[in-house]
This record gives sequence, structure tokens and C-alpha cells, in this order.
Amino acid sequence: MRSKILEELYINKGNYISGEVLRTKLGVSRTAIWKHINALKEEGYNIETIPRKGYMLLEMKDKLLPKEIEALISNNAIGQQIVYFDSIDSTNSYAKKEANKLKDGTVILSEEQLLGRGRRGRNWSSPKGTGIWMSLVLKPNIPPTEGVKMTQIAAAAVCKSIRELTGLNALIKWPNDIVINGKKICGILTEMAGELNEVNYIIVGIGINVNTDGFSCELKEKATSLFIEGGKKIDRRELVVNILKNFEALYNIYIKDLNLDETLVIVKNYSAILGKEIKIIQGNLEKKARAIDINNEGLLLVQMDDGSKELISSGEVSI
Ligand code: BTN
Repeated sequence: MRSKILEELYINKGNYISGEVLRTKLGVSRTAIWKHINALKEEGYNIETIPRKGYMLLEMKDKLLPKEIEALISNNAIGQQIVYFDSIDSTNSYAKKEANKLKDGTVILSEEQLLGRGRRGRNWSSPKGTGIWMSLVLKPNIPPTEGVKMTQIAAAAVCKSIRELTGLNALIKWPNDIVINGKKICGILTEMAGELNEVNYIIVGIGINVNTDGFSCELKEKATSLFIEGGKKIDRRELVVNILKNFEALYNIYIKDLNLDETLVIVKNYSAILGKEIKIIQGNLEKKARAIDINNEGLLLVQMDDGSKELISSGEVSI
């Protein structure tokens, strides 16, 4: 019922629609309509209520509301179902908790995260209305060992979208960061559950600093935003839609025969580390090496100081 009311408000956007008209059209009591309207307001919809005139949906500036995104997403399968929060602990935590009930391709979005999670147990700062904090719920029929490739697909999709929409020189710092001018703009946290040879679900969590206009002292040295780099505010809805479309295109190519080639073209073309001296951090271990290639499986090939080569499948890299 709530989405039917929302649809009516959308059709009449900018005009009042009376409680009576809604009641007759939708066949529910005026009290029920009033309750649903209040719930929609709590979800973030800007609805003006005037006695005897009714309800009017007002312009919602730069909110990631599902209807706004659905209007742009057309027939993309990923993003047909959107779960939206004004505030939540973490979109990844929610997706994990509800994974069994959520359909393949569901996208969770929140204006802010109170307990945003990064890799290696770190926090992920997610202030209200300034970034994209989203999780994709995927249920592909692939062996669990393939799951890590979702991070590469997401990194390629985000990097491509940022470049397309802003013209900024976004680069991928293998395996899961997007950087601009050496500072982090996006992080990806992929979490998976499954059996020995079957994936139950994969959650791809993507955090992007979009319109953030400043960072705390501790983050300032390492983090940046699209606004800081480009000097222009970005429409977050457009960026979300672009990412979901690019992700789906690369994901479908990959899923067809588990071929990551198309993704790897982007990952290699826009690599921040290939050909560079890097530091690899794995747990408490740190080693220096030269990044020389990313192989067909998305693993990083490095050359050590003694000339030996090693394939790296996980860990963190610093330049
Ligand atoms: C990292 O670079 O450490 C990964 C950061 C991932 C942050 C995103 S924001 C949306 C999703 N929900 C979370 O709690 N984390 C991921």
C-alpha cells in the first residue's frame, strides 16, 4: 500500500492530492493513508500536508530515494529492488542479516551509516547525505573460490563510472580501493557465505566519498572526495545508477562463462600500482615488491628484490 500511495504522490508531484481522493482510489481508510504518509516522511520523503488540501510530494534534493533511482535504472536487474534507509548501522550488516529474505540483485542504500565497516575490522566513516554507502546482494551460481572476483568487478565498475561522470583520473589500487591523486575515494568490502562448493550469498559493500567537503585530521592525509577533487557537487543518484549499470554489464559477461577478461582490461588499464614499487601488507607481515601484472584470475603478480616472482591473492597494498 505504501508504494501505491507513493506512486500516486509521484504522478501528482508538485500538486496536492486529497486524502479523500487517495482513499477512494486505493480503497483504504483515511487513517491508514495518514499512517503510511507519516511512515514515508520518516523514510525521508518530503511530503507537505495541508488540512483540507491534502498531500504534496516536494522536490527531494539529492536523496537516494528508491523511486528516483528506479526511474533512471530502467531494466537493469541489479537495483530493481532497493532497500533505503535514512540511517542504519551498516548496509553490509543489514544485507548479511536479511540475506536469506532478500532477492538476488537487491541494493541496500543508506544516507548515513552509524557503524560503517571497512576491511581488516576498521571503521568506515559514512556521514549523512554526502556519500554513497551501498551494498549489493548477489546470489550467483558459482563456486565460493570465485567470490573474490566480485571485488574486481565492483572496482572496475566504480572506476569506470567515476571517470565517465566526472572526467577525474580515478585509478584502482588493487584489490579494492579507488584513488584519485593518491588519496582514497572509494573502498569495497566483499563478504560471502556459503557451503564448500556453493555460494549462498555475496554482499558487495561499496563506500564512495562523493560530496564530502572535508575530513577529520586523521583522514585528511589519506582520503578525498569527488567534490574536493573536481570542485563540483555530484548527483549521487546518477552515480549510483551508472555504477549499477556498469557493474551489471561486467557481472553478466563474467557469470556467463566465469571469464573476467572484460573487467581485467579496466583493472589493468586504470591500475594505480602496476609497474610501481609497492608495500604488501598481509596480517602483521609487510614486504616490498614491484607490481608487474594482474593475472586472468585477478591475482597480483609481484617481483621481489631477489628477482623471484609471487602471486598475491589478498592483502593490502600501499604505494
Ligand atoms: C575498505 O576500504 O576498508 C572498505 C570500505 C567499505 C565501506 C562500505 S560502505 C557500504 C558498506 N557497508 C559497510 O559497513 N561497509 C561497506
